[in-house]
Amino acid sequence: MRVKPKLQLLGLVLAAIAFAATNTDSFAALQSAPLEVCDSSIPPTEGAGVTGIFSPNSATTREIRDLSYLVFAICAAIFVVVQGFLVVAIVRGVKAARAAKRDPAGSSREPVQIYGSVPIEVAWTVIPVIIVFVLGMVTIRTIRNIDLTNPPDGALEVTVIGHQWWWEYRYEADARDGITRTIITANELHVPIGRPVWLRLESADVIHSFWVPRLAGKMDLIPGHSNAMWFTAETPGLYLGQCAEYCGTQHAHMLLRVYAEDSAQFDAWRAAQSKPAVEDATVAKGRAVFTQYACMNCHTIAGTSDGMFGPNLTHLASRDTIGSGFIDLTRANLRQWIADPDTMKAGCNMPSLKLADDELDAVTDYLMTLK
Ligand code: CUA
Repeated sequence: MRVKPKLQLLGLVLAAIAFAATNTDSFAALQSAPLEVCDSSIPPTEGAGVTGIFSPNSATTREIRDLSYLVFAICAAIFVVVQGFLVVAIVRGVKAARAAKRDPAGSSREPVQIYGSVPIEVAWTVIPVIIVFVLGMVTIRTIRNIDLTNPPDGALEVTVIGHQWWWEYRYEADARDGITRTIITANELHVPIGRPVWLRLESADVIHSFWVPRLAGKMDLIPGHSNAMWFTAETPGLYLGQCAEYCGTQHAHMLLRVYAEDSAQFDAWRAAQSKPAVEDATVAKGRAVFTQYACMNCHTIAGTSDGMFGPNLTHLASRDTIGSGFIDLTRANLRQWIADPDTMKAGCNMPSLKLADDELDAVTDYLMTLK
């Protein structure tokens, strides 16, 4: 039996409605999930939480925005002209059809034949060539301006390593700044304003993409290959971003947070990060839990463990979020995360160690001291 196309379409629509209806539970769960992506405990600065490419905060993103305005304007003009011709043709066609109805004798009249018109052929060849040439030249100029092959003078150099599903940051030791040790942190990138930041992009597993729309363009992190990008943040604030290349289950929760600070604040942050981990005797039990279980195989806490698989936790408690910007760092959230990360970020690579309640409390308290 042959099903009519209209019936097929109706079936598809009904199937889609049924699917949506049976999935409302998981949809509701998703909506109530603790997605505090744009809300943070740091004071709101102008435009914080905005990820739009139309509110740039660096010279490079301003160039990208201006280029997109130009491309959009040219394309809009083409759209208006083409649609204008189309509308004129339709109106004339309808008029002609009506005239033919009123006067059947005249309906056999052919329209004016303009095949082979030299001026028209030349116009629709030359105009598009000029448009493509202009678009090509301005794009090449923009790429040359923003895609440098070497770090600008005085740049702060940071290696960014993409992991499923978090970001590792290694601040290069820099004799000019008197910093002699590489600082390793995760998920929250701190940068000074007014100074170029040079990012070396690498990956530990699959392809990710670094994208903080207000600060820089988009660049892939590729396993076995090193890419680079740079930006200079202009005003202090929190700049949000997002991994922009599908990299597995939790790609959507591989969030980027860039804290742009004035140089005094940034230096203070870097000095604090260079210090060894806080040793607090009151949480010795939690530290013992950390070293006794598999935690220490994956995480580094300077002076305690040197695991490399997960984020460095030496100064965990100095961060605003956990789970790659996915949720605020509070004692309750951290405890639930350690108890079973899968309940918060399904599919994440950190296992639940099935700790007893007192062990969970102890290790959470210990980690919360690591300022
Ligand atoms: Cu990492 Cu998508």
